[in-house]
Amino acid sequence: MSSKPHVKHSEHIAWLKKQLEEHAYNYHVLDNPTISDGEYDMLFQELLRLEEEFPELITPDSPSRRVGGAPLDKFDQVPHRIPMLSLENAFSDDDIMEFENRLLRYLNTSEKPDYVIEPKLDGLAVELIYRDGKLSQALTRGDGFTGEDVTAQVQTIAAVPFTLREPIDGALEVRGEVFMDKEGFAGLNLQRKHNGEQLFANPRNAAAGSLRQLNPKITAGRALRFLAYGVSAADDLAATSQYDLLIYLKTLGLPTNDLTRRYTSIEDVIKRYRELQEIRHELPYDIDGAVVKVDSFILQKRLGNKARAPRWAIACKFPATQATTRLIDIRYQVGRTGAITPVAVLEPIHVGGVLVSRATLHNQEEIDRKGLRIGDTVLIQRAGDVIPEVVKPVIEKRQGNEKEIIAPTTCPVCHHPLAKNDGEVVTRCPNTLCEAQKLRGLIHFTSKAGLDIDGLGKKYVEKLFQEKILRDIPDIFTLQHDQLAQLPGWGDTSAAKVLQAIREKKKPRLSRLLAALGIRFIGETTAALLEHHFHTLTALAQADQEDFLHIDGIGERTAQSLAEYFSDPRTRTILQRLEALDVSPTAELRDTSGKLSGLHFLFTGSLHSLSRD
Ligand code: IVH
Repeated sequence: MSSKPHVKHSEHIAWLKKQLEEHAYNYHVLDNPTISDGEYDMLFQELLRLEEEFPELITPDSPSRRVGGAPLDKFDQVPHRIPMLSLENAFSDDDIMEFENRLLRYLNTSEKPDYVIEPKLDGLAVELIYRDGKLSQALTRGDGFTGEDVTAQVQTIAAVPFTLREPIDGALEVRGEVFMDKEGFAGLNLQRKHNGEQLFANPRNAAAGSLRQLNPKITAGRALRFLAYGVSAADDLAATSQYDLLIYLKTLGLPTNDLTRRYTSIEDVIKRYRELQEIRHELPYDIDGAVVKVDSFILQKRLGNKARAPRWAIACKFPATQATTRLIDIRYQVGRTGAITPVAVLEPIHVGGVLVSRATLHNQEEIDRKGLRIGDTVLIQRAGDVIPEVVKPVIEKRQGNEKEIIAPTTCPVCHHPLAKNDGEVVTRCPNTLCEAQKLRGLIHFTSKAGLDIDGLGKKYVEKLFQEKILRDIPDIFTLQHDQLAQLPGWGDTSAAKVLQAIREKKKPRLSRLLAALGIRFIGETTAALLEHHFHTLTALAQADQEDFLHIDGIGERTAQSLAEYFSDPRTRTILQRLEALDVSPTAELRDTSGKLSGLHFLFTGSLHSLSRD
């Protein structure tokens, strides 16, 4: 049922689009957001709603197109107008000095050039082609000469502008890196683990796997980022140097890396290379080195290219963060939903400046695939600051007395027989009363992914659980001042603070509470769907598998998990106790009549007892 769009609507849509674009620019390019994520989302939802009502007003450059279009059946191969070269590598200070010597010899001069040094992002190179200021095509690097058309996928990346902020005639080919930051990577793998899916080994693979998805809607759900580092041909541009170009790209609305520096001596460049190496683990994304470029475009042109790489730039790699050590044992951890995760116990060793004694192995299948044995010498690596992983056994170092690793058949904590669902790689302890699961559940409930109770971190939940003060979720709301104040390192003040924090979480959003309960397959997104559909916990608890299946976005597995969860007598007890303790979730109010839509409200004045949110 679509009514005729009124001029008021098209103006309002234009206003919303402009707002969203400005906020995206403030966020992604200036790194200076001026509204909260929630406020941004409200504007976005409003645009979606209006466009749904008046589809004839949708334009290809609407921010709503970021949700991703129809799936492709293959990626088109497209030749690059100018080949995308790669870089030669340097591994030491000496190699960087030698880079300068080569330049000077080639230019036949003793006059040293200026340099730009940028972090070398560990993602994948893409080319964005803008025509008359509009994004028209995005290509992967491919073999350097021919790339794949990933326009539909790249359009879902919020940091890639659809329209440049200044009109530019003709084509502008921007090059940069698509990558996933550490937080996005951790979130994605957590979700995949939850769903029993194969984990990505590192952010680079996750970024590549997310971009090379035939279904752009999947790409849209992945936290991909983009930073521009150059253009393919800079002839017609206002900039005459790499540093100025980066500033110019930023004014066009393209995000660039603010860790970029320009120096007049190679010694300063080397200092910066070491500095970046020092801070790499604190950065929100993985870098595997620094790229040093001759600043001046005139000099770049004179230096030109070799077959595969330019003479005017070099990739200065960081030393590898790999090492070998001994695999002493395998321990099995029980997760919140009963998933059994093998953890490698290692002879402690320094890798990239950090002492490592444990490494994740994700699941038994990984152990089998890698052919590990206890007592093996193993190659381990740290990518960025993600948890170290075991790459492979060093077969040549085998003595013959290494022991085969046999997967457990019972839970290491409650000894219940383990189960494995069809098609899943993860083994689980099906006993929801398992102590390990209960503790993990409590930790999740209070954590940031749950109700986010300030001051009640993992360590304290563990302590309270051991002391049998906390046994199950509702116990959190019956905690007494004295029980907390007696904890080591606590006192009256911290106890009072935590109790206050708990009281403040007694009216959570329904979706928040659902995500906090730790039901299998129920993350933030599904929880929001459920809140939107049911509004109250009572309605939800009464629904059956069929009811869940009718919700768009909920599949068989999730519906089954929900039905199982809500029919479990233990769940009933938890929910009844929460209700008795006056923990009552709220649902977002929606203006379903549409009477308020399209109107702007301005609130003035100040709030004394409430925050802006
Ligand atoms: S410039 C012709 N700058 O490194 C020179 N590359 O081995 C083109 N990379 O495939 C590359 N960060 O994906 C340049 N700041 C940066 C970079 C960067 C990461 C990647 C790029 C390229 C590879 C070169």
